[in-house]
Formats: sequence, structure tokens, C-alpha cells
Amino acid sequence: MSPQPKPSWWKRARHVPGRLRTRLWLLLGRPMPITSQDRKVLETVILPEVAAKHHRVLFVGCEIYTAHYRTLFRRNDYHTLDYDPAKQRYGARQHKVGSATELDRHYAAEWFDAVIFNGVLGYGIDDLAGAEAAIAACRTVLKPEGLLVVGWNDRTEVRGLVEASQEIKRGLKPVVFAPLGVVQTEPLDVGRHVYSFFVKEAEQ
Ligand SMILES: C[S@@+](CC[C@H](N)C(=O)[O-])C[C@H]1O[C@@H](n2cnc3c(N)ncnc32)[C@H](O)[C@@H]1O
Repeated sequence: MSPQPKPSWWKRARHVPGRLRTRLWLLLGRPMPITSQDRKVLETVILPEVAAKHHRVLFVGCEIYTAHYRTLFRRNDYHTLDYDPAKQRYGARQHKVGSATELDRHYAAEWFDAVIFNGVLGYGIDDLAGAEAAIAACRTVLKPEGLLVVGWNDRTEVRGLVEASQEIKRGLKPVVFAPLGVVQTEPLDVGRHVYSFFVKEAEQ
């Protein structure tokens, strides 16, 4: 009797319980299936454009479903930061544990070509003082003409932070993000997620 061919590793993986399989999948750097419209826009439009046009990139706030972004930015100088030490495993090789409100303690001024600040307002930075400090810190670490992407859920309390922020009006100018043709998206999907695009003004 001829020996049976070995089942592929993937066929064998079917016997691994679901949550463990998902973790293995993500640890291998495989993308999490896209489940929402806003994530699709982020992963298929915004991040590829940022990766293509900006070399040194900071992504703030890491989760299991953002772990594979390091592969999207494999040709960039890609950095991540989160204040929760447990999130380091989902970050870039160049990851820092620290607060977005103190980015300028972790990175030199005018260091990044782009900062992606998505899903942090309302998910840890919940008051105006924190929002102001984080936006000012993003501006400080951006090079002149650098791109800031702010992603936020259009809920009353988060909209309040964005609208009340004076820092977002200081030295940052709304900019049309070419692949989408807007300075700010309409609220997307049930989470009413919005992406706002800014460029850091060169000092006069
Ligand atoms: C909803 S998740 C968003 C993750 C990711 N940025 C994204 O695009 O989906 C919020 C993340 O922000 C992190 N976070 C919240 N407040 C923070 C702060 N002040 N500084 C750094 N990270 C923070 C949390 O630990 C969490 O990982």
C-alpha cells in the first residue's frame, strides 16, 4: 500500500479551536478579514496610499486586528505606540509603550512623514485636555507638510472633542486626501467612523 500523503498544515489547522486559530493566523502576519466599511477604506485605500507616499510612519494604538499592518508598511520606517504594554505584540518592531499625549517625549520633533491616529479619541483619550495634548503632540512629531490622519467615531462626545479642539486648528490644515477626494469622509458604517486628513503647515 502506498503511503498516504500528509495533510497540508492548513488542513490540520482546521482541528485547532477557532480563537487559537485566529491568533495563529494573525501572529503569522495574515490579515484579519475586513468586516466593516471603515476598516476596508483604511486598509485598502488609506494605508496603501500612506505607505506609498510617506516613508517614516507612526501608527498610534495597536490591536490584534492591526498586527498585520506591519506587513503593509514593510518597506517603510514603521513605528507604533500604545500606552498598554500588552499591545506591544501587535505593534511594529519599532514599538514604544507610552501615551499619545506625550508622543514628543518618545520621538524627536519633526520626525515623521505621516501619523495615523485612528480610533484613539473616545477609546482612551476621552476628555478635551487629553485630545488637545495628543493632537499637539502629533503635530510636534510631524515634519512640515507631514500628513495627519485622525479617525474617530461620530458620536456626540467624540465629535465634541474634535470640534472643541483648538490644537486641530493650530498649524494643521485640512487637506484633500487624493484617493478619496475629500478632506473628511462621510460617517462610514454603523460605527459612523470618520477619517479627517490634515497637513502640518510649514512654519512661516
Ligand atoms: C479602539 S483601539 C484602536 C486601535 C487602532 N489604532 C485602530 O486603528 O483600530 C484603541 C487603542 O488605543 C490605545 N490607547 C488609548 N488611549 C491611548 C493613549 N493615551 N496613548 C496611547 N494609546 C492609547 C488603546 O490601548 C487601544 O489599543
